[in-house]
Amino acid sequence: MKKIIFSLILAFGLMNAAQAAQGDAAAGKTKAAACGACHGPAGISAMGIYPNIAGQKDAYIIKQLKDFKSGARTDMMMAPMAANLSEQDMADLAAYYSSLPMAGEEAPAESASTDAPTATASAGTADVVTSSPAAAIYNGDIKAGQSKSAMCVACHGVDGNSAVPMYPSIAGQSASYIAKQLADFKSGLRVDPVMAGMVAGLSEEDMNDLGAYFAVQSATPGSGETNAEGHKLYFGGDAAKGVTACIACHGVKGKGMKQAAFPAVAAQSKDYLKKQLASFRDGSRANDNNGIMRNIAIKLSDAQIDALAEYMSGLK
Ligand code: HEC
Ligand code: HEC
Ligand code: HEC
Repeated sequence: MKKIIFSLILAFGLMNAAQAAQGDAAAGKTKAAACGACHGPAGISAMGIYPNIAGQKDAYIIKQLKDFKSGARTDMMMAPMAANLSEQDMADLAAYYSSLPMAGEEAPAESASTDAPTATASAGTADVVTSSPAAAIYNGDIKAGQSKSAMCVACHGVDGNSAVPMYPSIAGQSASYIAKQLADFKSGLRVDPVMAGMVAGLSEEDMNDLGAYFAVQSATPGSGETNAEGHKLYFGGDAAKGVTACIACHGVKGKGMKQAAFPAVAAQSKDYLKKQLASFRDGSRANDNNGIMRNIAIKLSDAQIDALAEYMSGLK
């Protein structure tokens, strides 16, 4: 009897596997933009605590992502990454990463030599690298960006350091993050009537140039007060509520992670930070990929938002 039940479970499991979403590697590549910050632009990580996932087995990747999402496998960094992935997203990501060469299998993409027998695979990898957000940091023309910035300075300050609390500082923010925000304001994915008017006439090239220009301006250190409760949440999250520590993505000093377009949160006014957290919480700002921030903000109380905003505005 036990055996029969066991085979039934097994058969059911196999059926489920057969019905599982069919992965599309090209779609997975697009969805992997945020993963590269930790796992490397081609799934080979540069840091000891982040595993390589290139060339990993398809089904294993899907299982891990499901487990991170359900909480069966716990990790404070992967939980928010997996939280809003659909079965299709997981299948696409797995198809993409399992198709990439493992570490040591071949030279990195920059040195892709055309006459090598692995030319096709190299070309694929080169494509991945150039289209990663990391590359977007260097896409724009700083000089051209400077002349195009004339219309921005009234609100964001001459060098991107704003003096008015409701206008965010954008100096030193990563070029990829700035370009993404401008594109989101234009498409309406991020809603703000003032910025919508500013970006309406901008081309993708303009956005990259503006990003490049503001990214190389130095940010004036934050002047906010420090806050003990905010400090605790920022570094440790809130395990009881399932809130991921902010340092995982925004960094110890609030400088963000340029490659993933995770923004700097230091040197920003408390009012602006508070407004953004509240907007992610009520969904009025919904331009975060995979709901990364909405998923976190929805668990924060008013008092926690206040404490975090105060703490971040004082980060140096
Ligand atoms: C902020 C850093 C970070 C980001 C961004 C990130 N990961 Fe991870 N990932 C980790 C860490 C850390 C681990 C190891 C977790 C552990 O120790 O259990 C991990 C583990 C994994 C694993 C399991 C690997 C194994 O061998 O068991 C998979 C699969 C994975 N990540 C996929 C992804 C995908 C897909 C994305 C993008 C949607 C992503 N990760 C984004 C940090 C990150
Ligand atoms: C009339 C004032 C005004 C002008 C001019 C203006 N902005 Fe903004 N900008 C804002 C406001 C207000 C916000 C915050 C919107 C919100 O609260 O979500 C913002 C947000 C942004 C953000 C997002 C910042 C972040 O941290 O997410 C970027 C990037 C940006 N602006 C770039 C520009 C650029 C580039 C220009 C010039 C082409 C420009 N802005 C012109 C008022 C202005
Ligand atoms: C897993 C990564 C991740 C974690 C953890 C995370 N964030 Fe974020 N955060 C992001 C990303 C990505 C964005 C930008 C989304 C977009 O607009 O593309 C963002 C945006 C923000 C912004 C808006 C910045 C601006 O310039 O408009 C604030 C404020 C913020 N996060 C605060 C926090 C706080 C506070 C925590 C901890 C409670 C936290 N974040 C945890 C990834 C993360």
